[in-house]
Amino acid sequence: MSGSSWDVERIRKDFPILHEEVHGKPLVYLDNAATSQKPNVVIEALVDYYAKQNSNVHRGLHQLSERATEAYEEARVRIQRFLNAAHSREIIFVRGATEGINLVAQTYGRRAVRAGDEVVITALEHHSNIVPWQMLCEEKHGTLRVAPINDAGEVDFEAYEALLGERTRLVAIAHVSNALGTILPVHRMSETAHRRDIPVLVDGAQAAPHLCVDVQALDCDFYTFSGHKTYGPTGIGVLYGKTELLEQMPPFHGGGDMIKSVSFEKTIYNDLPYKFEAGTPHVAGAIGLGAALGYLEDLGLDRIAAYEHELLVYATDRLSSLPGVRLIGTARDKAAVLSFVVEGVHAHDVGTILDLEGVAVRAGHHCAMPVMTRFDIAATTRASLALYNTREEIDLLTRGLGKVREVFR
Ligand code: ALA
Repeated sequence: MSGSSWDVERIRKDFPILHEEVHGKPLVYLDNAATSQKPNVVIEALVDYYAKQNSNVHRGLHQLSERATEAYEEARVRIQRFLNAAHSREIIFVRGATEGINLVAQTYGRRAVRAGDEVVITALEHHSNIVPWQMLCEEKHGTLRVAPINDAGEVDFEAYEALLGERTRLVAIAHVSNALGTILPVHRMSETAHRRDIPVLVDGAQAAPHLCVDVQALDCDFYTFSGHKTYGPTGIGVLYGKTELLEQMPPFHGGGDMIKSVSFEKTIYNDLPYKFEAGTPHVAGAIGLGAALGYLEDLGLDRIAAYEHELLVYATDRLSSLPGVRLIGTARDKAAVLSFVVEGVHAHDVGTILDLEGVAVRAGHHCAMPVMTRFDIAATTRASLALYNTREEIDLLTRGLGKVREVFR
């Protein structure tokens, strides 16, 4: 897509925080993989909910409760459409991708994994898609198997395939790597696992804000993402699961709403999706997330991906031309994440100097310590782009890196 058909200046007006100043400089927000900023429609949906609808859902007979329930369930249907899930009962509200993964590990995983069984992940996962499986394997005396990545940060497909065997009970993979930007060939990886009847969980935290996600086309069994990285509120996220798997799984948390009836002798659990939604949910968050996804759909996920790809190409070109800057993560298929090291300068110093220039990036291990180990580095500086970033902002990042060189000359 040509940058001219993407009216970024108009889009930026939808995000009030982008007009803030930091250290007396206009904010250049390039930390979108950590969390993205919120458009007015999301902020207004939250205010409107608390001002006009606030009530508990699925409980009251009164009008406010009916309004809140309707808005909450509308949000679920919107998410179903966003992911192209077959049924709205396959959409479960969770706190975020981390909780989505833990839910599957603690319910599906605890039933499926026995001593000697295996869970397969890849070497580019962030901690949320490593630790829950490690905890499960530790409890069940199973083994975590890790598919390696090459120097570009791409999964070694043959090695991945070779890891799948009789004892593999689940494959858990990122759709997009938060530290490297690699887009994984999820459909191909799913197909390969399914040929051996192995279910696949996809951690879509870094994909849902940037790519068109179709869970039926990907044919994954579980897909999870976080609202706050998808221009929605914090504390809300989604777990998609295929009906037949969700039906078989025991509940995650016990409490109100996840039951049909309770006696001291026996509890009958509720139908999907409520079986997995114990307690009062984050109603405002769900409604805010629905508004965020509506905003993305209006812009068009394909157009967002095309614009961000243009920015990625531009930024890659600019950063590659800087002496002493080395990009980490150069996959052919890549989302708009630029992780890099500056020769002789710690990433935290790079981040601090950039911050003084108004440029917000993340510096550190990005909750993906094994990725740092793989590349034999302690940390990277990471600029992660979003639909509202501009070429001028990338020029400001480049200028900021010039300052880093001056300070550490
Ligand atoms: N996983 C998040 C990130 O990449 C927090 O910054």
